[in-house]
Amino acid sequence: MFFSFPALLALLALSALSVAAPSNPKVVSMDVSKKTYLGSVKGRPGVYISTYISVGTPPQSFEVSFDTGSSDLWIPAVGDDQTGGPGLFNPQASSTFKSLGTSFNAAYVGGTAQGYWVTDNVNAAGLSLSNLQLGAVSNMQDQKQGILGVSFKQVEMSVRNGQPQYYNFPFSAKEQGFIDHVLYSLHFDGPHSPDGTFLLGGIDHAKYSGDLHYYNVANPSAGPQINFKSLVLDGHELDFNLPVTLDSGSLAIAFPDTQFRAIGSGLNLTNYNKDMGLYYIDCQAEISVDFKFDGLTISANSSSLVLPMGFFSGDTTDPSCVLGVQNSALYESPNDAVLGEPFLKNAYVVYDLEDYSIGLAPAVYTDKSDVQAVSRTL
Ligand SMILES: *[C@@H]1O[C@H](CO)[C@@H](O)[C@H](O)[C@H]1NC(C)=O
Ligand SMILES: *[C@@H]1O[C@H](CO)[C@@H](O)[C@H](O)[C@H]1NC(C)=O
Repeated sequence: MFFSFPALLALLALSALSVAAPSNPKVVSMDVSKKTYLGSVKGRPGVYISTYISVGTPPQSFEVSFDTGSSDLWIPAVGDDQTGGPGLFNPQASSTFKSLGTSFNAAYVGGTAQGYWVTDNVNAAGLSLSNLQLGAVSNMQDQKQGILGVSFKQVEMSVRNGQPQYYNFPFSAKEQGFIDHVLYSLHFDGPHSPDGTFLLGGIDHAKYSGDLHYYNVANPSAGPQINFKSLVLDGHELDFNLPVTLDSGSLAIAFPDTQFRAIGSGLNLTNYNKDMGLYYIDCQAEISVDFKFDGLTISANSSSLVLPMGFFSGDTTDPSCVLGVQNSALYESPNDAVLGEPFLKNAYVVYDLEDYSIGLAPAVYTDKSDVQAVSRTL
């Protein structure tokens, strides 16, 4: 998830090239997995959801943070002042690399990234995209991990700076014939499991219960946001009615101060760590929280909501636990409401970037699958 948008020079929108027609069904399944940051967040190690891609010809491999809250792909690269090294993209070694001659600047919650815009071939799972636009980052603060942002074109760093949109990873997948509709689904294997699946172009109907409920994304330039109605704690309902971002790039659920404190009171939590914006909670606490959307309830319990403090502080020897809800007063945008990983583990989420809607249903954890490639408006 990003929080500010430094200046960026002019960009040209790219028209993606066609490639040989991929085989049916038109879905691409990518594994995602929770990992500890290679770098740090504000000086502390962090946790992110990762996946693997390769860039260039011949391919150079990268582990990247998988982020539904931002829209650009960027990777660490060899800079003018660097001779290169492991984990850095070396453009000289790629025969398909092209520089766009414009600078790339991004500021994420994990740090800032500066470099330049390039195009090159990108491979991920069964997907092989030609000339995808991405950021080659030679100067990073804190954040040491590249990011695969898969959100709306309206959230692209270029657009945030008044420049044209371009075909990012999910939109290029459609332009180049790998999927028929710019949509993807995200689910995790269980409330404790670090692993999940990003299914580009389709929906796995075995992985949720009941019907998918679709919600309109009213303002795509704010990211994958839908209206969140209320939270039920211990039978007591707190009315929220605010837009929330369904953000895989967030380790926590986050609410503005007022709502955050209401949740703490509702759960009788009093021990607040102000520096971290987190409530301590008994590691054995049995809690149950219902997240309510119009016509739909997603329930969560301690297995996804009570987390080791070490997840946030990086100190894995700390035996204390915290509620996986953070005060967004600590964020650059203190009014942000974010449903990050502790919520997402309980839901099956369909992000339809083409029709600006998000589908939600309670998750079912199963090895069974019933994948449907989506070819049109749902
Ligand atoms: C909070 O405390 C009140 C009063 O002791 C009690 O009725 C309520 O059940 C508690 N709630 C939780 C979630 O423990
Ligand atoms: C908590 O939720 C998980 C996942 O839905 C479920 O497997 C588990 O049984 C629940 N635990 C309790 C105590 O209800």
